[in-house]
Amino acid sequence: MFVFCVCVKNVKAINHCFKKSYLHIGRKLIMSHSNDWKGAPLSMIYGSETPWGAPEFPPVQPGHNHAVLYHIPSNGVLAEDRPPKPQIGQDRWDQHHVRLPCSKQSLYPVPDNKGGSRLRKRWAIIENALKRPIQNSEELANAILAYNTKFKSRWKFRALHRLFNECLEEDESQYFFNVTLPDIIKLALDLPTLVQAPIPLLKQHKNISVSLSQQQIASLLANAFFCTFPRRNSMKQDSEYASYPFINFNSLYEASPSDDVIEKLKCICHYFRRVCTKVPVGVVTFTRRSVPPRSLPQWAESTLPIATLPLHVDSNNTIEEADGLIQLDFANKYLGGGVLGHGCVQEEIRFVICPELMVSMLFTEVLRPNEAVMIIGGERYSRYVGYGHTFEWAGEWRDTAPRDCSGRRRVALLALDALQNGEQRECSPQGLARDLNKAWVGFSFNTDSENEGMNFPGIATGNWGCGAFGGTPQLKSLLQIMACAQSRRPIAYYTFKDSKLRDEIINIYSQLVKHNVTVGQLYKLLVQFCNENLPSSCLNSFLLQMLKDDASSTTLKMESTNTEAAECLKITDMLENELLDSPDVFSVDITMDEDNNSKEHLDSSNKNFEQKEQTQDKMAEDNKMADTNLTEQSNQTSRLFQEMEKLDEGNGSLNLNSAHSLSFGFMAETNCSDGAMDADKIQMDMSEGVKKIISRKITDYFSKKLI
Ligand SMILES: *[C@@H]1O[C@H](CO)[C@@H](O)[C@H](O)[C@H]1NC(C)=O
Ligand SMILES: *[C@@H]1O[C@H](CO)[C@@H](O)[C@H](O)[C@H]1NC(C)=O
Ligand SMILES: *[C@@H]1O[C@H](CO)[C@@H](O)[C@H](O)[C@H]1NC(C)=O
Ligand SMILES: *[C@@H]1O[C@H](CO)[C@@H](O)[C@H](O)[C@H]1NC(C)=O
Ligand SMILES: *[C@@H]1O[C@H](CO)[C@@H](O)[C@H](O)[C@H]1NC(C)=O
Ligand SMILES: *[C@@H]1O[C@H](CO)[C@@H](O)[C@H](O)[C@H]1NC(C)=O
Ligand SMILES: *[C@@H]1O[C@H](CO)[C@@H](O)[C@H](O)[C@H]1NC(C)=O
Ligand SMILES: *[C@@H]1O[C@H](CO)[C@@H](O)[C@H](O)[C@H]1NC(C)=O
Repeated sequence: MFVFCVCVKNVKAINHCFKKSYLHIGRKLIMSHSNDWKGAPLSMIYGSETPWGAPEFPPVQPGHNHAVLYHIPSNGVLAEDRPPKPQIGQDRWDQHHVRLPCSKQSLYPVPDNKGGSRLRKRWAIIENALKRPIQNSEELANAILAYNTKFKSRWKFRALHRLFNECLEEDESQYFFNVTLPDIIKLALDLPTLVQAPIPLLKQHKNISVSLSQQQIASLLANAFFCTFPRRNSMKQDSEYASYPFINFNSLYEASPSDDVIEKLKCICHYFRRVCTKVPVGVVTFTRRSVPPRSLPQWAESTLPIATLPLHVDSNNTIEEADGLIQLDFANKYLGGGVLGHGCVQEEIRFVICPELMVSMLFTEVLRPNEAVMIIGGERYSRYVGYGHTFEWAGEWRDTAPRDCSGRRRVALLALDALQNGEQRECSPQGLARDLNKAWVGFSFNTDSENEGMNFPGIATGNWGCGAFGGTPQLKSLLQIMACAQSRRPIAYYTFKDSKLRDEIINIYSQLVKHNVTVGQLYKLLVQFCNENLPSSCLNSFLLQMLKDDASSTTLKMESTNTEAAECLKITDMLENELLDSPDVFSVDITMDEDNNSKEHLDSSNKNFEQKEQTQDKMAEDNKMADTNLTEQSNQTSRLFQEMEKLDEGNGSLNLNSAHSLSFGFMAETNCSDGAMDADKIQMDMSEGVKKIISRKITDYFSKKLI
């Protein structure tokens, strides 16, 4: 394809231009005069003067491992004023594809008048339920329960009720139910028209991609909003989708309605309002990459010098605003983590401000250690402030990223799940290799192993796995630097206001460069450090000591030291003082043109990162949310449900009945209004003042002005 050739040529040209500059950064590092970033300028991370000058990713091309759900016109160019048409195809109701609620084979038992039950198409029930008038959250909950009867006594919709009954002004709620909700319903019920070809599951051990139009994604998410996806609510370990994230939004509606949960709901409502007001015309590609263990790098053997890697360290900006770079999602192995629950840290925030990312949860199986997911084209819709429990929706965001030659916003998000320190030790030979491999699998997406130069654009990352997962920034930054050097992708590291960490990273890096340390040598040093069992806070002083010991010789000796922890702390001070005095490699030979870079320092006044106080929220840590108790659940399973599941299994080979109790508590006995009672009982510790503020915020959101 012509466009593709252009993209490839760009890569070569840029590599040619940049070869010289990055080869000498080893000795003449560049430093900004401003306080917020150090190291190489962003242009060396883009591979271009501007973010959008960096090469594009390969265009969307349907193939055996790339399902494209929309029609690509014969000239390959999508219209700019309307969404692409859906690709025609045959529904597939099997283990390799998403089971759609509108499938003919999606059946649901309903009681008949003879006291038994008969089967009806689930979609017809869904259509019926959603076409009835829905004027408040109670009616919305009842509509959702009409095709999720099994959960009548369990789903309380607490967060949903709180949003519409307490956080919003009456007329704002009314506006939502009068105007926005009917649009979301229409979007959901258009699914059979909008998504016709089957959506493959992105299963483990596969390199596989799926591309969808933003309109198709909106329709799928509208279905998730109404909890229509079949078989996706089971909490059982052996259920068909146990190895997939949850996708129906009921778990978010169920979450105890803390303020951040309400704020996430606002982001989602805002998204729907936007896409219903004006259908986005672009597309998004989701790619899973799986590299078998035999093809992973031999870390100890790597002779790639760290010195060739351009490193930019910034303490003042955020990853999601690193235009043009491959932006890291500090993911859970179940993509989305706690986004549909209590989680509200980096990944969850990204997913609610760019809700299209959430559709990945519909088809991406839990990630293995040697796997990564890249999402190209996810648009951002919301602003936010805060982090964790202080997270707040802060109005609309207009994404200005240009589209690539395939119609995707030029936003590449790389989902990598860090090791959960505790499950496995971060500082152990296995732990090091695990995270190095994981990072490398991600960073080497679309790289050319033949190419000796750098691959652009670079990576935008930060303290990966250092929140709830308990990783150490000093170690994680080095591991990512190594993985970037190995995959020959430049790196921009965002420390989220931590200028001390920024300086530490740049200092260690400069020492590694000065001593021409290779990836393999650094790997061995790290293994040695981990074997010493020193506190992880000693890592940098250990490395500096090792490098210093060796400063006079030309090769690095790997002799063992018996440094005690106490000694380590002593040398830490000593070395830090020494470092502060040494201008070393940061001679300012090449001065950065600040004016030309000033646009990178976007206004970040609305950010209030509290990286170090990340909520240790259980939901974010958990592999998969599970706030419903299995014991309780099985006790409530009725005969009808068992029947339903047997039937649902149809051609599947799973046996889900083992875990069911045989109690016959039929739904008729349960009381639908229980939910409302419970919601009312929830303790509100909000002062009137706080309520007012929240109302005001949401007033802007639900303002009847067209957006
Ligand atoms: C961070 O960026 C903001 C906005 O671009 C700027 O006002 C502020 O001075 C910067 N902070 C530092 C430490 O440079
Ligand atoms: C919503 O619709 C109801 C009934 O149609 C109407 O009485 C009410 O004024 C509407 N409210 C708003 C805010 O549009
Ligand atoms: C996926 O692609 C990479 C090359 O990018 C290859 O090394 C690897 O073997 C492939 N994985 C599978 C499971 O085919
Ligand atoms: C740095 O190390 C690499 C790999 O060992 C070697 O090829 C290169 O010549 C070294 N450069 C310098 C300046 O010592
Ligand atoms: C910015 O960079 C360009 C290209 O490198 C150069 O031509 C221009 O003069 C620079 N702008 C300023 C304000 O120095
Ligand atoms: C689940 O519920 C049962 C019975 O209500 C209780 O005994 C058990 O402790 C609960 N388990 C958890 C993990 O909450
Ligand atoms: C389970 O159901 C039985 C009878 O249906 C009831 O007696 C028991 O209390 C229930 N247990 C729980 C934990 O709800
Ligand atoms: C259902 O709830 C209502 C009101 O809360 C109550 O009056 C009624 O007795 C309940 N029914 C059952 C079967 O628990």
